[in-house]
Amino acid sequence: MSESPRPSSRRVLSVASECAPLVKTGGLADVVGALPAALAAGGWESRVLLPAYPGLLQRVGATTSAFVDDDLFGGPAEVRRARHAGLDLLLLDAPHLFDRTGGPYEVDGREHPDNAARFAALSWVGRSIALTGTDDGWRPDVVHAHDWQAGLTPSYLHYAGSAVPTVQTIHNVAFQGLVGADQLDRLRLPVWDFHPEALEYYGRVSALKAGLVHAHAVTTVSPTYAQELTGEEFGFGLEGVITARRDRGELHGILNGIDENVWDPAADPHVRPYAADGSLPVATASDVATGKARNRRVLLREFGLDKPAGPLAVVVTRLTHQKGIDLLLEALPGFLRAGGAVAVLGSGDPACERGLLDLEARFPRAAGVRIGYDEPLSHRLYAGGDLVLVPSRFEPCGLTQMYGLRYGAVPVVTATGGLRDTVVDAGAQTLADGTATGFHLDGTTGPGLASALERATQLYADPVEWARLRERGMRSPVGWSTSAARYADLFESLV
Ligand code: ADP
Ligand code: GLC
Repeated sequence: MSESPRPSSRRVLSVASECAPLVKTGGLADVVGALPAALAAGGWESRVLLPAYPGLLQRVGATTSAFVDDDLFGGPAEVRRARHAGLDLLLLDAPHLFDRTGGPYEVDGREHPDNAARFAALSWVGRSIALTGTDDGWRPDVVHAHDWQAGLTPSYLHYAGSAVPTVQTIHNVAFQGLVGADQLDRLRLPVWDFHPEALEYYGRVSALKAGLVHAHAVTTVSPTYAQELTGEEFGFGLEGVITARRDRGELHGILNGIDENVWDPAADPHVRPYAADGSLPVATASDVATGKARNRRVLLREFGLDKPAGPLAVVVTRLTHQKGIDLLLEALPGFLRAGGAVAVLGSGDPACERGLLDLEARFPRAAGVRIGYDEPLSHRLYAGGDLVLVPSRFEPCGLTQMYGLRYGAVPVVTATGGLRDTVVDAGAQTLADGTATGFHLDGTTGPGLASALERATQLYADPVEWARLRERGMRSPVGWSTSAARYADLFESLV
């Protein structure tokens, strides 16, 4: 953690739509779930405000009433306080908004039509708690809003004239929470502030833009993405607002970490444990070579694949345009013909699902595809894989390449966003000076991925070099300590 001693009683309210291990569709949940413990080391006490999706109140056990709102966007609501998995949670129980089948945002692939109002309500409660506190007198010194779902919290506090500092974090600028201007009233937003300098985004209301305009500071999840967000290619129309914040010194690129307690190959209950040589001895863990080989065998069997001559690549991802699934479909046949194998876990876009299932049908002994969401299987994939493939078109941070590093699945990634910041390409120079940890695509294209896979396959054929590369990755610093200290410093500077 940071070296300066801190007062021990600072409080941050984190407002988010997902939080691991309770509810997760992607990396946002991992980050929201891991930050509180990481921040605690720097003297910051966190409470996480989260919708009480179905079943969630039952899962957390005992709760107490922390806050009541008789009229929250069309119905009564209560915030229940709970402690679960080391987290202090504030669960927004508002059945008219959150008691729905499906995931947090959709059912059967269709988004809920009132998503803007559902998460405006979450943001409104964030405002209320910041203004008046919870039943036990807890009030935050800082409010931390994650993504568009919490983007209206800084705005509501701004309109309330509150002095409580707010931080808006962009996990992915592609999702903005857009809704028609006819909803302004319903969302409790002032019509007079509907213009391009504040709430308006090309004729509509943008919850993310609201947060970016009104928060006291803006962060995003890697230094490279912070830079990319200021340009047209990656800014998704918000590059102007973001550049303005950067020019005032109010944009911070803080790299995500991973929860090293949950993601530890030496102590992971989902895998055959193993530890990097020379690291702390763990009684039950084997050395890396033995451990990886064991987990690889388990995975090949599970996916019904033959033992490949080349590397076993794994993919764990949402199946969307962002993640470059079409690049995989273009590059994988050549990789499989050259002796590689691939195991994929993902769900999302039906066209991507079909494409991957076709690949599996064409290469039944070398390609295995599981459509769905399966947390334990994701751990087995990182543990059993020689490579983890992340050919994203853009990637604000990306966690799967970091899980790959930690588990000795060497990452093959696009040189963008957090992927660029966490993986060092294995070129002649970096192999010689001992800094390489993975492979960068030679361009965000199918051929770019194919040539990176060729380089990986070649190096894999040299067991000594390969073991060196893999173990270096396993030792890369991917934990939270440095970045949590940066958040703590930022929060402190705002108080
Ligand atoms: P994003 O948040 O854009 O989806 P990240 O790499 O930041 O990408 O985080 C993805 C997280 O979701 C990782 O923890 C990854 O292991 C997990 N994940 C993605 N798809 C699946 C799946 N189908 N089953 C289990 N875990 C998944
Ligand atoms: C978003 C981004 C991903 C990032 C995650 C956590 O989902 O797409 O790159 O790792 O948020 O910040």
